Amino acid sequence: MQRRKFLQYAAASGLGAIGAGYLYRYATNAGLNGILGTAAAAPDAVSHKPLFIPGNSGPLGILDMSDSRLTLNARSTTFPLVQDKQSPFLTYDAKYAGKAYQNPTIRVQRGSQFNARLQNDLDEPTIIHWHGLHLPGVMDGHPRTTIPAGAQYDYAFTVANRSGMYWYHTHSHNLTAEQAYFGLAGILMVEDEDEIALRSALQLELGVTELPLLIQDKQFNSAGELAYAGNSMQQTMMGQLGDTILVNLTPQPQLDITNRLYRFRVLNGSNSRIYKLAFVRGGKTLPYAIIGTDAGLLDRPYTAQEVFLAPGERVDLLFDASRLGVGEEVLLKSLAFDAMEADMMSGMGGMMGGMSGMEGMGGSSLALGAEFEVMKLIVTRRIQAVASVPPSKLSTVMRIDTRGATVRNISLTMQRMRWLINGESFNMDSFPMQSRSNTVELWDIQNARMSMPHPMHPHGFSFQVVNRRNSPSQVRKLAQDASGRLATDLGWKDTILVWPGETVRVAIDFTNEFAGDQIYLFHCHNLEHADQGMMLNHRVTVA
Ligand code: C2O
Ligand code: CU
Ligand code: CU
Repeated sequence: MQRRKFLQYAAASGLGAIGAGYLYRYATNAGLNGILGTAAAAPDAVSHKPLFIPGNSGPLGILDMSDSRLTLNARSTTFPLVQDKQSPFLTYDAKYAGKAYQNPTIRVQRGSQFNARLQNDLDEPTIIHWHGLHLPGVMDGHPRTTIPAGAQYDYAFTVANRSGMYWYHTHSHNLTAEQAYFGLAGILMVEDEDEIALRSALQLELGVTELPLLIQDKQFNSAGELAYAGNSMQQTMMGQLGDTILVNLTPQPQLDITNRLYRFRVLNGSNSRIYKLAFVRGGKTLPYAIIGTDAGLLDRPYTAQEVFLAPGERVDLLFDASRLGVGEEVLLKSLAFDAMEADMMSGMGGMMGGMSGMEGMGGSSLALGAEFEVMKLIVTRRIQAVASVPPSKLSTVMRIDTRGATVRNISLTMQRMRWLINGESFNMDSFPMQSRSNTVELWDIQNARMSMPHPMHPHGFSFQVVNRRNSPSQVRKLAQDASGRLATDLGWKDTILVWPGETVRVAIDFTNEFAGDQIYLFHCHNLEHADQGMMLNHRVTVA
């Protein structure tokens, strides 16, 4: 209790960093032992493990939500992540319709009622945020609604969003990064008619040929336990990076496929790592189709060979394996890119002395921008041909009418080793950003030149990208048109990566049907940046 008070004081008074004493503090009661064991195929020579695929119960299990209330118990447990060793882990446990789940993949229909209770069985404060959902401020999981250990929080709202892969995660005041790192996150899928039409056109089956891929990078100690870098300066500035990539909590995953089309719904659930995803065979990248982004399907498929995916972002991909033969392998990789930290480092004039470049950030030997394998695909079986060409029209993306919209300038900078939005740091009681309900705004989010890429995210409202200016060449070369937008910028977004020196203009429509003023957030989804204060209250006021 004393320590908690001190830490809250420390954070509130601007010292920011989370105490190193938090490392490995989670209880180690045997809980999920063996659930992710090696029951399926034997590991091959380079010790790949079968990708864990969510079933209809258990870890990440698909939970079809009906009218009855879902209770999510946030609790401390252990989980076998690497080398089948138990690691401290945090989960949302649920029992629903007779089945037990950990971090369930919650599936809801658009327009339905969502009733859930968070039961905080941790020994520290927490709250759940529904990332990407349009809902009243009090249902949003803003850190001001953080509840103490033992308490409950009830959520009730109508699911208004279009179909898409949203997600939920802790937004505990000052503890978001660490709690999310230790496990408190899950997928929330919204479905509607567009989704059903696509599945039937391509004969896709969730959990078989349509797979959610939750990608996270983690750091482990020699005992195979998750390690979090605590209050190191590197971590506070750059974010937590890990050298072990987990897909659906599986290290070095391998997925056995057939010669057909697959749909991968990818969520970057990492604290701070950005990926540049590509399918590679024999050293050559293969084309794939981008069909959706954060908040659902694009109007049509866009062919791509690489896509950037920052923390919080999602991308919906179709990969066609119909021309591959049995035994052929394809790697889903993150390709090398320029993390653009060099300018920033030199700009800081050696203030971070003792660090040799960016190597080893947050204790990781895998630098931001390094190339690595995410998952191996191997064709193990031939099947009868099935549809492999996606429909030319996937959905309707109605453009936001921006005539008469006011432009808001938002700067992302660093001062005295802190990341700031418009020169400010998070203060629970101040409201530096205010918008009026039922108006449209254009936000020019401008990242400083001496900076790092920041994935920026407003709560409560999806938005559309209008243009990108001064993009670095590695981004500009992926532009679809003169506006500088990328394929992933052409649908509805809720998180947008802004590169050093770049300005991204987004359009946001604050139309809502909620009573009174609503309090949301606008923050960087590099979770260490957010906890350290790269976050502002955003109030949407009644006109
Ligand atoms: Cu996933 Cu406040 O966000
Ligand atoms: Cu969010
Ligand atoms: Cu950031």
